[in-house]
Amino acid sequence: MKSTKPHWIAIGLLSALLLAGVVKVVVLGSTGEKAADGRTALLLEPAERQAVLGEMRLLLESTQSIVEALANDDLTAVEAAARPIGSAAIATVDFSLRAKLPLDFKKLGFGTHYAFDDIANMANEKQPAKAIQMKLAETMNNCLACHAAYYLPE
Ligand code: HEC
Repeated sequence: MKSTKPHWIAIGLLSALLLAGVVKVVVLGSTGEKAADGRTALLLEPAERQAVLGEMRLLLESTQSIVEALANDDLTAVEAAARPIGSAAIATVDFSLRAKLPLDFKKLGFGTHYAFDDIANMANEKQPAKAIQMKLAETMNNCLACHAAYYLPE
């Protein structure tokens, strides 16, 4: 009977190649060239790009509401503005779009949604407005980091 060893080597090599391909897709997502300003292009379908930008405008609007509510010491309004953009918002991200987002983008994006959960919970626990404001300032570093790293070409 012939040895089956060479087959195992071939299977091993193919598996390694497949795994490398999967890792590359998961880590890089659907990214393109870097722009002159150093930001990486994220290549999405027009509808996906619109969905991401729509989510962004909601993030800005909700952040404005939170800042205003904190100034008014209205923690009920803080929670009401933060809760919908918390982890509940992650469920609305379509799976084919998720597959195109680089790992680093997802970490920053999902991390931002979890931070808004924390802000909603802090408001619910009636923590001091200043502590919540500090948490929001830290959360907004995610906005800055992601905006410095990626752009969505048309
Ligand atoms: C995980 C990445 C990421 C995070 C986190 C993020 N953004 Fe964005 N945002 C983007 C990208 C990419 C664009 C498109 C930029 C471009 O194409 O020049 C964008 C665009 C925007 C826009 C413009 C929307 C439009 O209609 O053109 C606003 C407003 C915005 N973001 C607000 C926010 C705010 C506020 C936060 C934080 C609370 C935030 N973003 C967090 C990635 C992110």
